[in-house]
Amino acid sequence: MSQVKLIVSNWKMNLNINQARTLTNKLKKIQIKNNLIKNIICPQFILLPIISNIIKESDILLGAQDCHYKKFGAYTGDTSVELLKEVGCKYVIIGHSERRKEHHETNNIIRQKAQLVISEKLKPIICIGESLKERKNNKYLNILEEQLKVSIPHNLDEIIIAYEPIWSIGTGLVPTEEEIKEIKNFTYDFVFKSKNISKIFFLYGGSVNSENISKIFESSDINGALIGGSSLKFEEINKILTFG
Ligand code: PGA
Repeated sequence: MSQVKLIVSNWKMNLNINQARTLTNKLKKIQIKNNLIKNIICPQFILLPIISNIIKESDILLGAQDCHYKKFGAYTGDTSVELLKEVGCKYVIIGHSERRKEHHETNNIIRQKAQLVISEKLKPIICIGESLKERKNNKYLNILEEQLKVSIPHNLDEIIIAYEPIWSIGTGLVPTEEEIKEIKNFTYDFVFKSKNISKIFFLYGGSVNSENISKIFESSDINGALIGGSSLKFEEINKILTFG
C-alpha cells in the first residue's frame, strides 16, 4: 500500500455519549503503522464537541454526517458548516443515500452543500450510488452520471467521492472488484472531462468489514472506504485501520 487511504467511520445515528467516549478512547490507542491511513470519524452532531475534545492531540480527524446548504438562518433543526468548523470538523459527508431518501435531498441541494463546505475550507465527502432496481435494469451508469453531473461542483483542486451502492449498505452484499473498478473509471472519466477538478479521491462504501477490506483495496486501487456498521465495533475497525 503506497497511497494515502481515507478510512471514514460513519457512525450514523448510533452510540450514546458513554459508548462514543469509550470507542474513541480505544481508537486513540491504535498504533497506525505508517502515515498512509487517515482515520476520520463522523459521529452524530451532539457528540461532535465531546469527541473533538477527546481526539485533541491525536491523529484522528473529525467529520460530520451532514450540514445545511445555507450559512445560517431560519432553518429549524439544521446545523451550519460554521458550527461544524468551530467544533473541529475537517470533513462533512454530503448526500448519503439515507439523507437523499429520508430527507429528500436532491443532487442540486447536495452540490450547494458541497460548495458551502468547500468555501468554508472543509472537505465534503460526496456520496453517490444506485439502487438495486437501477442496477438490475442496467440504468446504474445513467443514475451515477446524473449524480456526478449535478452534485459535484466545478473548478476544484480535489474532491472526495464515495461510491456507495444502496443495495450494498448494511446488507453484506459487496460489488465485485470489477464492478467497483468500472464505477471508479467511469467517475474519473466523467469528472476529469467535465468538471475541471485536478484530483479525485475515490472511496468505496457498503458492507466493508475486516475480512473484505484488503481485497477491496488491493484489487480496485481506491483511495479509501466509508464504513458504517463495522466502524461501531472496535475489533473490526481496529483490524481495518491496521490492515496491510
Ligand atoms: P455499512 O454502511 O458499512 O453499514 O454498509 C456504509 C454507509 O452507509 O456509509
